[in-house]
Amino acid sequence: MKLDKTRKLQARSHTVIPGGAHTYAKGDDQYPELAPGFIARGRGCHVWDVDGNEFIEYNMGLRSVTLGHAYPEIVEAAEKAMRSGTNFTRPSPLEVECAEDFLGVIDGADMVKFPKDGSTATTAAITLARAVTGRDKVALCIDHPFFSYNGWSMGTTPVDAGIPQSEKALTVTFHYNDLPSVEALFDAHPGEIAAVILEPSRADDPTDGFLHELRKLCTDQGALLVLDEMITGFRLHLGGGQKYYGVTPDLSTFGKAIANGFSVSALAGKREFMERGGLRHDKERVFLLSTTHGAETHGLAAAIATMGVYRREPVIEHLWKIGERLALGFTEATREAGLEDYVHVIGKPCNLAFATKGPDGEPSQSYRSLFLQETIARGVLIPSLVVSYSHTDDDIDRTVEAVRGALQVYRQAMDEGTERYLVGRPSKVVYRRYN
Ligand SMILES: Cc1ncc(COP(=O)(O)O)c(C=O)c1O
Repeated sequence: MKLDKTRKLQARSHTVIPGGAHTYAKGDDQYPELAPGFIARGRGCHVWDVDGNEFIEYNMGLRSVTLGHAYPEIVEAAEKAMRSGTNFTRPSPLEVECAEDFLGVIDGADMVKFPKDGSTATTAAITLARAVTGRDKVALCIDHPFFSYNGWSMGTTPVDAGIPQSEKALTVTFHYNDLPSVEALFDAHPGEIAAVILEPSRADDPTDGFLHELRKLCTDQGALLVLDEMITGFRLHLGGGQKYYGVTPDLSTFGKAIANGFSVSALAGKREFMERGGLRHDKERVFLLSTTHGAETHGLAAAIATMGVYRREPVIEHLWKIGERLALGFTEATREAGLEDYVHVIGKPCNLAFATKGPDGEPSQSYRSLFLQETIARGVLIPSLVVSYSHTDDDIDRTVEAVRGALQVYRQAMDEGTERYLVGRPSKVVYRRYN
């Protein structure tokens, strides 16, 4: 694989951008050395790096591109809006149209505001919950890795430099599918918890009516239930995880897939809470999400067009079906290689990841890097197994073939160690205190 331009750009990027990229999950430390460093263009689920190498891509745009790269209908909608101006002194009618379309698919919500990124939306949910309840503490599901780059969320991770202790002390944590762990928080901090925030699910579905019990508990305790649908929204179900599981949150947050990669996110919720950020009440006002770029016309036009495709075409069905084909093929390949206990698929077909373990049965970054290196060498860029509407049966079959080849090398490395096979250093987890 030719990487000449990649190497030159990598040297430049680390000089001008901390980490060499504006998003940690895309950084060089997340990939083996023999990997595309910069993607120059994409079409559907195929991408080309700056050296012209082509890959079938997964996880596209950190799960934001669910329809496909450069999806014509979305690009045309965004371009048309852009040609009429991107941001005005007063709102564009697209703001109303996009809000109505969004609320037409997310039945649990009565009102919505659109910022540009997920962290801003979840942080606004916390601010609103604090204002509504008059409480300061936040109960956060510690099994869900990321809600925001802001202190209330990052303070629970090892990368907490710069976050005051006083801010960290306001976030308390519980476990998914563990109602007693939430009850214990309410007992330990009576009348202090403003919000309970979690994703509707990750790999595991709720058990024993967890989400419904949590709903009841929040109501009884006077705390707001916030579902972070950044990943589940426009993926598990058009109505989000809240529709899929039949639970109505007080507030919910969306982003990623809502505009097929254009930057639009959403804070949605019940009118009685959301209206506190509005003009039609006489309570104390909440400064609820006011961003210069929230109204950017092309993002909203892209969101409207994306929701249109979702309503008209079997996008969700495809994500589940094509993901199922990938999960089956992947699992079959691990069985053939005798590696089913070491490399396996995690999650739901529409949102799959994989685990890589070393000979000791423990998760291993060295083996993950080797697996990535070997799939990349076979034309597949696969940090997760998250599919899009553009992945075809042929893409999946070619991916499984690449996985098969990569697993042969993995198998050999299980006996001989990764050192002989992995070129350069292994990748690292994002949440670490030191480099
Ligand atoms: C569940 C969840 N919530 C919130 C966020 C933050 O979104 P953003 O990166 O757009 O700020 C992410 C991003 O990965 C996420 O996965």
